[in-house]
Amino acid sequence: MRILITGVAGFIGSHLSEKLLSEGHSVIGIDNFDIFYSKQIKLINLSKSLSCNAFYFLEADIQDEKFIKSKITGTFDLVIHLAAKAGVMGSIKNPEEYISTNIAGSLSILNIMQAFCCDKLIFASSSSVYGNGDKIPFKEEQKANSPVSVYAVTKKSMELLNYSYFNLYNYKIINFRFFSVYGPRLRPDLAIYKFFDSAYKSKPVDVYGDGLTARDYTYIEDILDGIVAGVKFLKESQNPIYEIINLGNNQYIFLKDLIQQIEELSGIKIIRKNQKLREGEMIITHANIEKAQRLLGYNPKFNITEGLKKFNEWYEKIGN
Ligand SMILES: NC(=O)c1ccc[n+]([C@@H]2O[C@H](COP(=O)([O-])OP(=O)(O)OC[C@H]3O[C@@H](n4cnc5c(N)ncnc54)[C@H](O)[C@@H]3O)[C@@H](O)[C@H]2O)c1
Repeated sequence: MRILITGVAGFIGSHLSEKLLSEGHSVIGIDNFDIFYSKQIKLINLSKSLSCNAFYFLEADIQDEKFIKSKITGTFDLVIHLAAKAGVMGSIKNPEEYISTNIAGSLSILNIMQAFCCDKLIFASSSSVYGNGDKIPFKEEQKANSPVSVYAVTKKSMELLNYSYFNLYNYKIINFRFFSVYGPRLRPDLAIYKFFDSAYKSKPVDVYGDGLTARDYTYIEDILDGIVAGVKFLKESQNPIYEIINLGNNQYIFLKDLIQQIEELSGIKIIRKNQKLREGEMIITHANIEKAQRLLGYNPKFNITEGLKKFNEWYEKIGN
């Protein structure tokens, strides 16, 4: 297949591009090197894909619909839309930017699909659409109507906008709700990266709350397997599809235990600066993954201990 990936230079996008290329697909990758973190890191993320003939890279903002349309020749079979302003805290400081990139930008991707007669979409939604009052483990059919951050609102809004395109134009769509993805190339703003970084550089790190917040961390390879299964599912389906599917690990870990595991792996005591829990933070995330198992045969292979070990190996190798 010819697959268009937005946000291809990011953490998940760059791994996904390599995986799809290795499976014989060709990839059109779009990214604007958003300043959320360094372009240098994103260029390194992209280097392997860039060395592949079946990869075409377009530096563009997803909101620039006209420019993107003018630069793509031929057509494509499926879009995996990952480009976004990611991160919950940024969305509270800059709600306008999150609304325009994540909602208006996504709308332009839907329009580009239409112009190229592409009817298959995988959209990166998030566990954050569930609110603090939602029952755990989170199930897709829960209403998820109490988002605690603007970021969550943008993801929920896109799930709804995607529904209207499914309804109007018979698209085939999966909205994957990713649960705290981690692994090599992790975004530097995320907790696991920050704790390892703090340990190895012996610098203090902010720790929010009482250590009893919890996350369902999902290793990158499991997420990639889920997405690839989603690609196959959409390819094989004859009819319009609209699905929301959790991709999590189905196990959560408390923050205090996460920090302890990182200290044990690195052999270094983390210098903590204890802070109050921030507005907009989820208390706990926990995925019910039965739907992913049933529809896609999804079966995460890495528990947090194995995943952290692999992350640690990568972190030591990049020499931070
Ligand atoms: N990492 C997680 O734990 C997690 C959890 C839930 C959902 N998600 C979602 O998955 C997707 C990928 O996340 P990630 O962790 O790889 O983030 P990332 O920041 O590493 O990747 C996102 C990429 O999108 C690009 N981008 C941002 N704005 C753009 C624009 N206007 N035009 C073109 N490109 C743009 C960025 O430059 C970046 O390379 C995001 O949509 C995110 O919201 C991630």
